[in-house]
Amino acid sequence: MSSALSFCLLAAISVLLYVEGGRVGECRTSCVERNVQRIVRVHLRDNYVMVGTCKNATVDQKAGGILAGEPVFESIVTPYICDKNIGIWTIDELDKEGVAKFPVRCPSVDQVAKDRIDSCPK
Ligand SMILES: *[C@@H]1O[C@H](CO)[C@@H](O)[C@H](O)[C@H]1NC(C)=O
Repeated sequence: MSSALSFCLLAAISVLLYVEGGRVGECRTSCVERNVQRIVRVHLRDNYVMVGTCKNATVDQKAGGILAGEPVFESIVTPYICDKNIGIWTIDELDKEGVAKFPVRCPSVDQVAKDRIDSCPK
């Protein structure tokens, strides 16, 4: 499956989380997106919420990050994990996909008020 296609499928899956009100247990989507990155995949397991968040690649990242022969990338997806009882998002070091590059740009982020981000569990 092409990465562009899988990216679209993952974006569609993320819509399911929004339908649930953007919140799974204490894990609020706005607390990982923080108005700057957009969730594009969601996975639930046991007491954990696992997501991939998409950031558009900057010119600097592209200049420094393209390996010989690698196709040009437009975005970077980073895995995060959150315990439903605690609500703190951390980078998921154990995620199989890890940090991945994609040839398409991210969808836009639903902006939330700053105080909603300030009130995220820390
Ligand atoms: C990524 O870039 C696209 C097009 O330039 C923009 O519409 C979108 O909002 C951006 N997404 C993020 C997460 O910055």
